[in-house]
Amino acid sequence: MEVEPAGFSGEPCLCTEQKPPGAQLPVYAVPARLRRNPLPFHLGAWAAWTMAARSVGLLARSPLCAQSRSPVRLAAARLLSGAGPVAADVGREEQPLRGAETGSEDKTPKKRFSEVQEERREQAQRTVLIHCPHKVSEKKFLKYLSQHGAINNHFFYESLGLFAVVEFARKESVGSLQSGTLMPHEAAIPFRSRFLSLKLKNAGGQPSEPPSVRASQQLPPSSQRLLERLCRAESVGDQLDTLLQELQLTEENVRLRYLTCSLIEDVAAAYFPDCTVRPFGSSVNTFGKLGCDLDMFLDLDEIGKRSTPKTVGNFLLEFQVKNVPSERIATQKILSVIGECLDHFGPGCVGVQKILNARCPLVRFSHQASGFQCDLTANNRIALKSSELLYLYGALDSRVRALVFSVRCWARAHSLTSSIPGAWITNFSLTMMVIFFLQRRSPPILPTLESLKALASAEDKCVIEGNNCTFVRDLNKIQPSRNTEPLELLLKEFFEYFGNFAFNKNSINIRQGREQNKPDSSPLHIQNPFETSLNISRNVSQSQLQKFVDLARESAWLLQQDGEGGPAPAPRQPWGLAALLLPSVRDSRSLSKKQNRRPASERVKSLLESIKEHNPDSPTATDGKRTMSTHA
Ligand code: GTP
Ligand code: MG
Repeated sequence: MEVEPAGFSGEPCLCTEQKPPGAQLPVYAVPARLRRNPLPFHLGAWAAWTMAARSVGLLARSPLCAQSRSPVRLAAARLLSGAGPVAADVGREEQPLRGAETGSEDKTPKKRFSEVQEERREQAQRTVLIHCPHKVSEKKFLKYLSQHGAINNHFFYESLGLFAVVEFARKESVGSLQSGTLMPHEAAIPFRSRFLSLKLKNAGGQPSEPPSVRASQQLPPSSQRLLERLCRAESVGDQLDTLLQELQLTEENVRLRYLTCSLIEDVAAAYFPDCTVRPFGSSVNTFGKLGCDLDMFLDLDEIGKRSTPKTVGNFLLEFQVKNVPSERIATQKILSVIGECLDHFGPGCVGVQKILNARCPLVRFSHQASGFQCDLTANNRIALKSSELLYLYGALDSRVRALVFSVRCWARAHSLTSSIPGAWITNFSLTMMVIFFLQRRSPPILPTLESLKALASAEDKCVIEGNNCTFVRDLNKIQPSRNTEPLELLLKEFFEYFGNFAFNKNSINIRQGREQNKPDSSPLHIQNPFETSLNISRNVSQSQLQKFVDLARESAWLLQQDGEGGPAPAPRQPWGLAALLLPSVRDSRSLSKKQNRRPASERVKSLLESIKEHNPDSPTATDGKRTMSTHA
């Protein structure tokens, strides 16, 4: 391919993407919503009123409404579907809902975690990332690139500019593309990565065409849109499924995550040519929300496996290596040097921080082009195994993911979880709690880790640092559950179960699937499934646990009110899961700390009373019984 200097003709040409000089940009260069995606429902007093009113049944729906589309719900849906943020939300299409209500699963064989990882990794190696000018013509762009070989797949997305992800059918095409790509003349580190820049030659002289590319959405939907979609659902179960569909990682987002790991691997390979950078955590365990961080693991084990030792006679050759006092120090040194490398030479890597004294040393940085906040660790094989276990649980029954997403969003909406490290519950712990709860149903929805171990074959055997991490990896060997409880019931029961759990004496243990005596005095004890002497929620304070318990009780109570019947909610008023995601009465500024210590039901009632006092027209019940809302 001939590549001419930029600004010569009207054709596109490629340049290797360089890290801008002095690009030690702070982390805020990445859009905040890409880093974390709380549900920032800031609807204040109205929200508190809604929750309060619903809690005494004013806005509760009839059981019929809970199951089917009532005339009231249809009217509400019509009102909600008018032009507004939904219509403005380009790029997110209505997706058909899957049957997540019961355990009925499709019978197609499910892929193992390792198969998915290998396929995605290989796909990423055939892929390039290209920063494009906004007026690029998609057709001409693809024609230009296909000189190097057939293109399997491509998509565009916006993140501080327009980017294209292009997957070639063959890996050689990437080499061909790179060999025809210019190195910019500016003072820069000459690094031939797969992150390129498309320049339009003679861009000024180009006829001004309207932008012809459609950018795929990498961000979670706005809270307004989400709220509207939840309110238009037909039942609480539908709401859980809708939330999952709206927030789960899209195919494009997953591709971008694997591609980002692959690009980082190219940088790390400058030091360790046979290293692998693998994604783990919520990017791959199927519980990731759009905007979640990208956890990466620098795997150097392959380097040791490359050679086949030949012992002839008395001879055996060994590499000379530099010895260090411990594995931890080796990990710190490796991450330190990779951190430097990313900082100085990594195109698009900004805000590099080395957090090497943490329990699990890591390098944190923003990958500007993808918009991901990245955490790179090394020697973290157990976390990868945990991701595999969660992937397996998520794939066993479609209710698992729907429930986990809702509980995670609920926790985020009420500030039970945070992006800042502290005494909060983590998403990982919440997922363990959901899994444990589903193991406790009758019949169980999920098997215990011990029973997954019992199903393992010899090839599944896995011991990491002396910890037995064996469990069956072939999902098709696991019998589906006979439990058919609907999601709506499971959500309510989840809150009830943990609202009444004896946290003071019992620990949560997904290996055994039953409560066990707590081995220590930490307020919340969730046994690490593989390093069984460790507590994954050791950081959680008593006050955070109490907040969780209070909110769980309150939410169970509100869902209970829904189930007991009552009139349908007024149009535009959140109900079911939507109401649970609003700031709760306990967060309302109007409540004093003293009030907060009273039971949820009492607090809700007193809030309602105060609203009634300020709003004489309010259609409330005065005798404690439920009445029809005049809003409906
Ligand atoms: P997000 O909040 O969406 O990022 O969820 P996540 O599951 O990716 O959590 P996080 O980024 O905090 O951690 C990444 C992975 O590290 C988790 O999925 C677990 O596999 C592992 N991990 C996190 N916290 C702990 C812990 O306290 N103990 C152990 N053993 N592993 C953990
Ligand atoms: Mg994560």
